[in-house]
Amino acid sequence: MLFSRITRASSLLRSTRLSTPIQRPLSSLKVEDVSNDEENIKFFKIYRWDPDSGGKPYLSTYPVDLNDCGPMILDVLLKIKNEQDPTLTFRRSCREGICGSCAMNINGSNTLACLCYVDKASNDATKIYPLPHMYVVKDLVPDMGNFYEQYRSIEPWLHTKTGKKEGQAEFLQTKDDRKKLDGMYECILCACCSTSCPSYWWNADKYLGPAVLMQAYRWIEDSRDEHTKERLEALDDSFKLYRCHTIMNCSKVCPKHLNPGKAIANIKKRMAEMH
Ligand code: SF4
Ligand code: SF4
Ligand code: FES
Repeated sequence: MLFSRITRASSLLRSTRLSTPIQRPLSSLKVEDVSNDEENIKFFKIYRWDPDSGGKPYLSTYPVDLNDCGPMILDVLLKIKNEQDPTLTFRRSCREGICGSCAMNINGSNTLACLCYVDKASNDATKIYPLPHMYVVKDLVPDMGNFYEQYRSIEPWLHTKTGKKEGQAEFLQTKDDRKKLDGMYECILCACCSTSCPSYWWNADKYLGPAVLMQAYRWIEDSRDEHTKERLEALDDSFKLYRCHTIMNCSKVCPKHLNPGKAIANIKKRMAEMH
Protein backbone atom coordinates (compact mmCIF):
# COMPACT_ATOMS: atom_id res chain seq x y z
CA MET A 1 0.00 0.00 0.00
CA LEU A 2 1.44 3.33 -0.99
CA PHE A 3 1.16 6.21 1.42
CA SER A 4 -0.02 9.54 0.26
CA ARG A 5 -0.88 12.78 1.98
CA ILE A 6 -3.26 15.52 1.06
CA THR A 7 -1.78 18.97 0.80
CA ARG A 8 -3.30 22.19 -0.32
CA ALA A 9 -1.88 24.03 -3.32
CA SER A 10 0.81 26.55 -2.35
CA SER A 11 -1.52 29.48 -2.99
CA LEU A 12 -3.96 28.03 -0.48
CA LEU A 13 -1.16 27.57 2.07
CA ARG A 14 -0.36 31.27 1.76
CA SER A 15 -3.99 32.15 2.22
CA THR A 16 -4.15 30.36 5.61
CA ARG A 17 -2.34 33.35 7.06
CA LEU A 18 -5.47 35.47 6.46
CA SER A 19 -7.48 36.14 9.58
CA THR A 20 -10.84 35.42 7.89
CA PRO A 21 -11.41 31.69 7.33
CA ILE A 22 -12.12 30.86 3.69
CA GLN A 23 -14.20 27.87 2.62
CA ARG A 24 -12.30 25.97 -0.10
CA PRO A 25 -13.84 23.60 -2.63
CA LEU A 26 -12.59 20.04 -2.37
CA SER A 27 -11.13 20.40 -5.88
CA SER A 28 -8.49 22.74 -4.42
CA LEU A 29 -7.03 19.82 -2.48
CA LYS A 30 -4.09 18.19 -4.17
CA VAL A 31 -3.06 14.59 -3.53
CA GLU A 32 0.70 14.44 -3.33
CA ASP A 33 2.30 11.01 -3.71
CA VAL A 34 5.04 10.71 -1.09
CA SER A 35 5.71 7.02 -1.63
CA ASN A 36 9.31 5.91 -1.76
CA ASP A 37 10.21 3.22 -4.25
CA GLU A 38 13.31 2.29 -2.26
CA GLU A 39 12.89 -0.32 0.45
CA ASN A 40 13.80 0.47 4.02
CA ILE A 41 14.01 -2.93 5.66
CA LYS A 42 14.03 -3.31 9.41
CA PHE A 43 14.04 -6.63 11.24
CA PHE A 44 11.67 -7.56 14.04
CA LYS A 45 12.44 -10.46 16.37
CA ILE A 46 9.21 -11.71 17.88
CA TYR A 47 8.62 -14.24 20.66
CA ARG A 48 6.68 -17.24 19.44
CA TRP A 49 5.17 -20.09 21.38
CA ASP A 50 2.30 -22.35 20.42
CA PRO A 51 1.10 -24.57 23.30
CA ASP A 52 -0.38 -27.02 20.78
CA SER A 53 2.97 -27.60 19.08
CA GLY A 54 4.57 -29.14 22.16
CA GLY A 55 7.76 -27.25 21.31
CA LYS A 56 9.77 -24.67 23.20
CA PRO A 57 9.43 -20.90 22.72
CA TYR A 58 11.64 -19.33 20.06
CA LEU A 59 12.20 -16.01 18.29
CA SER A 60 11.04 -15.48 14.70
CA THR A 61 12.72 -12.77 12.65
CA TYR A 62 10.64 -10.85 10.13
CA PRO A 63 11.89 -8.24 7.65
CA VAL A 64 9.49 -5.31 7.20
CA ASP A 65 9.76 -2.50 4.65
CA LEU A 66 9.19 0.62 6.75
CA ASN A 67 8.44 2.61 3.57
CA ASP A 68 5.39 0.43 3.07
CA CYS A 69 4.12 0.29 6.64
CA GLY A 70 2.44 2.52 9.22
CA PRO A 71 4.59 4.14 11.89
CA MET A 72 3.58 2.13 14.97
CA ILE A 73 4.67 -1.28 16.22
CA LEU A 74 1.05 -2.41 15.95
CA ASP A 75 1.14 -1.51 12.23
CA VAL A 76 4.22 -3.72 11.90
CA LEU A 77 2.55 -6.64 13.69
CA LEU A 78 -0.56 -6.37 11.53
CA LYS A 79 1.55 -6.21 8.37
CA ILE A 80 3.51 -9.30 9.37
CA LYS A 81 0.30 -11.16 10.21
CA ASN A 82 -1.41 -10.10 6.97
CA GLU A 83 1.50 -10.59 4.59
CA GLN A 84 4.03 -13.01 6.11
CA ASP A 85 2.67 -15.15 8.92
CA PRO A 86 -1.05 -15.44 9.71
CA THR A 87 -0.25 -17.62 12.73
CA LEU A 88 1.37 -14.72 14.64
CA THR A 89 -0.93 -14.12 17.60
CA PHE A 90 -1.44 -10.89 19.55
CA ARG A 91 -4.30 -8.88 21.04
CA ARG A 92 -5.46 -5.51 19.79
CA SER A 93 -8.70 -3.67 19.41
CA CYS A 94 -8.83 0.12 19.47
CA ARG A 95 -5.41 0.97 17.97
CA GLU A 96 -5.45 4.25 19.90
CA GLY A 97 -4.37 3.53 23.48
CA ILE A 98 -7.87 3.08 24.90
CA CYS A 99 -8.56 -0.66 25.22
CA GLY A 100 -5.24 -1.74 26.74
CA SER A 101 -5.22 -5.00 24.75
CA CYS A 102 -1.94 -4.54 22.89
CA ALA A 103 0.31 -4.27 25.97
CA MET A 104 3.61 -6.08 25.36
CA ASN A 105 7.33 -5.75 25.97
CA ILE A 106 9.04 -3.84 23.15
CA ASN A 107 12.81 -3.48 23.24
CA GLY A 108 12.83 -4.21 26.96
CA SER A 109 10.04 -1.88 28.05
CA ASN A 110 6.37 -2.61 28.65
CA THR A 111 4.14 -0.43 26.52
CA LEU A 112 1.19 -0.39 24.13
CA ALA A 113 2.10 -1.50 20.60
CA CYS A 114 -0.37 0.98 19.13
CA LEU A 115 1.26 3.96 20.90
CA CYS A 116 4.85 2.85 20.31
CA TYR A 117 6.65 4.27 17.26
CA VAL A 118 8.98 2.03 15.29
CA ASP A 119 12.55 3.12 16.04
CA LYS A 120 13.65 4.20 12.57
CA ALA A 121 16.89 5.71 13.83
CA SER A 122 18.33 2.36 14.87
CA ASN A 123 19.51 -0.41 12.53
CA ASP A 124 19.17 -2.97 15.32
CA ALA A 125 16.32 -5.44 15.18
CA THR A 126 13.36 -4.55 17.41
CA LYS A 127 12.64 -7.27 19.96
CA ILE A 128 9.04 -7.94 20.94
CA TYR A 129 8.00 -10.21 23.81
CA PRO A 130 4.78 -10.73 25.77
CA LEU A 131 4.38 -8.88 29.09
CA PRO A 132 7.06 -10.32 31.40
CA HIS A 133 6.51 -12.83 34.19
CA MET A 134 3.03 -13.76 33.00
CA TYR A 135 1.89 -17.16 31.80
CA VAL A 136 1.64 -17.11 28.03
CA VAL A 137 -1.48 -18.23 26.19
CA LYS A 138 0.19 -18.02 22.76
CA ASP A 139 2.92 -15.84 21.19
CA LEU A 140 2.37 -12.27 22.48
CA VAL A 141 -0.83 -13.04 24.39
CA PRO A 142 -0.38 -13.23 28.18
CA ASP A 143 -2.83 -14.93 30.52
CA MET A 144 -4.58 -12.02 32.28
CA GLY A 145 -6.74 -14.27 34.48
CA ASN A 146 -4.92 -13.60 37.77
CA PHE A 147 -4.75 -9.86 37.05
CA TYR A 148 -8.52 -9.66 36.43
CA GLU A 149 -9.26 -11.79 39.52
CA GLN A 150 -7.21 -9.37 41.59
CA TYR A 151 -9.13 -6.46 40.08
CA ARG A 152 -12.40 -8.20 40.96
CA SER A 153 -11.15 -8.70 44.55
CA ILE A 154 -11.06 -4.95 45.27
CA GLU A 155 -14.75 -4.66 44.33
CA PRO A 156 -14.32 -1.85 41.81
CA TRP A 157 -17.80 -0.41 42.05
CA LEU A 158 -19.62 2.07 44.30
CA HIS A 159 -20.55 0.80 47.77
CA THR A 160 -23.09 2.88 49.71
CA LYS A 161 -24.74 2.35 53.07
CA THR A 162 -27.36 5.08 53.13
CA GLY A 163 -28.87 4.39 49.70
CA LYS A 164 -30.71 6.89 47.59
CA LYS A 165 -33.29 9.35 48.90
CA GLU A 166 -36.67 9.39 47.21
CA GLY A 167 -36.38 11.03 43.80
CA GLN A 168 -32.58 10.93 43.85
CA ALA A 169 -31.31 9.88 40.45
CA GLU A 170 -27.54 10.01 40.91
CA PHE A 171 -24.92 10.05 43.62
CA LEU A 172 -23.47 13.53 43.21
CA GLN A 173 -20.11 14.91 44.26
CA THR A 174 -18.51 18.35 44.19
CA LYS A 175 -16.15 19.35 41.40
CA ASP A 176 -13.28 19.31 43.89
CA ASP A 177 -14.13 15.76 44.98
CA ARG A 178 -14.42 14.67 41.37
CA LYS A 179 -11.01 16.17 40.67
CA LYS A 180 -9.44 13.84 43.25
CA LEU A 181 -10.10 10.94 40.86
CA ASP A 182 -8.08 12.51 38.04
CA GLY A 183 -4.98 10.51 37.23
CA MET A 184 -6.67 7.28 38.37
CA TYR A 185 -9.94 6.88 36.45
CA GLU A 186 -7.99 7.09 33.16
CA CYS A 187 -6.30 3.74 33.82
CA ILE A 188 -7.02 1.29 30.98
CA LEU A 189 -5.90 -1.79 32.97
CA CYS A 190 -3.25 -2.70 30.42
CA ALA A 191 -1.04 -4.21 33.18
CA CYS A 192 2.15 -2.59 31.80
CA CYS A 193 2.87 -1.26 35.31
CA SER A 194 2.15 -4.42 37.30
CA THR A 195 4.24 -6.57 34.97
CA SER A 196 7.22 -4.20 35.26
CA CYS A 197 7.15 -4.38 39.07
CA PRO A 198 9.76 -6.75 40.55
CA SER A 199 7.58 -7.33 43.63
CA TYR A 200 4.72 -8.39 41.37
CA TRP A 201 7.01 -10.69 39.38
CA TRP A 202 7.86 -12.70 42.51
CA ASN A 203 4.55 -12.50 44.40
CA ALA A 204 1.81 -12.08 41.78
CA ASP A 205 -0.30 -14.65 43.61
CA LYS A 206 -0.47 -12.52 46.79
CA TYR A 207 0.66 -8.96 46.01
CA LEU A 208 -2.07 -6.95 44.22
CA GLY A 209 0.39 -4.90 42.17
CA PRO A 210 0.31 -1.23 41.16
CA ALA A 211 -2.58 -1.27 38.66
CA VAL A 212 -5.04 -2.95 41.01
CA LEU A 213 -3.85 -0.96 44.05
CA MET A 214 -4.35 2.30 42.19
CA GLN A 215 -7.90 1.24 41.36
CA ALA A 216 -8.42 0.33 45.02
CA TYR A 217 -7.31 3.84 45.94
CA ARG A 218 -9.59 5.32 43.24
CA TRP A 219 -12.57 3.95 45.27
CA ILE A 220 -11.05 4.88 48.63
CA GLU A 221 -10.78 8.48 47.39
CA ASP A 222 -14.27 8.59 45.90
CA SER A 223 -16.38 10.89 48.10
CA ARG A 224 -19.55 8.96 47.16
CA ASP A 225 -18.25 5.60 48.38
CA GLU A 226 -19.18 4.68 51.97
CA HIS A 227 -16.95 1.62 52.39
CA THR A 228 -13.68 3.50 52.81
CA LYS A 229 -12.85 1.82 56.14
CA GLU A 230 -13.74 -1.65 54.84
CA ARG A 231 -11.67 -1.08 51.72
CA LEU A 232 -8.63 -0.03 53.76
CA GLU A 233 -9.05 -2.97 56.14
CA ALA A 234 -9.20 -5.37 53.18
CA LEU A 235 -5.82 -4.08 51.95
CA ASP A 236 -4.17 -4.16 55.39
CA ASP A 237 -2.07 -7.21 54.62
CA SER A 238 1.67 -7.71 54.44
CA PHE A 239 1.42 -9.15 50.94
CA LYS A 240 -1.53 -7.41 49.25
CA LEU A 241 -0.15 -3.90 49.82
CA TYR A 242 3.16 -3.92 51.66
CA ARG A 243 5.13 -5.85 49.04
CA CYS A 244 5.51 -2.49 47.31
CA HIS A 245 9.03 -1.23 48.00
CA THR A 246 8.66 2.09 46.16
CA ILE A 247 10.96 1.09 43.29
CA MET A 248 8.66 3.14 40.99
CA ASN A 249 9.14 1.08 37.81
CA CYS A 250 5.36 1.18 37.59
CA SER A 251 5.04 4.95 37.25
CA LYS A 252 7.97 5.15 34.85
CA VAL A 253 6.44 2.70 32.40
CA CYS A 254 2.74 3.67 32.35
CA PRO A 255 1.81 4.48 28.72
CA LYS A 256 -1.00 6.73 29.97
CA HIS A 257 1.44 8.73 32.12
CA LEU A 258 -0.32 7.84 35.36
CA ASN A 259 1.39 7.43 38.71
CA PRO A 260 0.34 4.19 40.44
CA GLY A 261 3.38 4.38 42.76
CA LYS A 262 2.00 7.61 44.23
CA ALA A 263 -1.44 6.04 44.69
CA ILE A 264 0.16 3.18 46.64
CA ALA A 265 2.03 5.67 48.83
CA ASN A 266 -1.30 7.41 49.49
CA ILE A 267 -2.93 4.13 50.55
CA LYS A 268 -0.06 3.50 52.99
CA LYS A 269 -0.54 7.00 54.39
CA ARG A 270 -4.29 6.47 54.84
CA MET A 271 -3.52 3.10 56.47
CA ALA A 272 -1.11 4.74 58.94
CA GLU A 273 -3.77 7.32 59.83
CA MET A 274 -6.29 4.53 60.44
CA HIS A 275 -4.07 2.67 62.93
S1 SF4 B 1 -1.69 2.52 35.64
FE1 SF4 B 1 -0.98 2.80 33.53
S2 SF4 B 1 0.31 1.03 33.12
FE2 SF4 B 1 -0.89 0.56 34.91
S3 SF4 B 1 -2.66 -0.55 34.13
FE3 SF4 B 1 -3.23 1.60 34.30
S4 SF4 B 1 -2.81 2.48 32.30
FE4 SF4 B 1 -1.75 0.52 32.37
S1 SF4 C 1 6.56 1.40 43.40
FE1 SF4 C 1 5.76 -0.47 44.26
S2 SF4 C 1 4.29 -1.14 42.76
FE2 SF4 C 1 5.61 0.34 41.73
S3 SF4 C 1 7.20 -0.89 40.77
FE3 SF4 C 1 7.90 -0.30 42.76
S4 SF4 C 1 7.38 -1.99 44.12
FE4 SF4 C 1 6.19 -2.20 42.27
S1 FES D 1 -5.02 -1.62 20.54
FE1 FES D 1 -6.13 -0.72 22.20
S2 FES D 1 -4.56 0.05 23.48
FE2 FES D 1 -3.48 -0.68 21.75
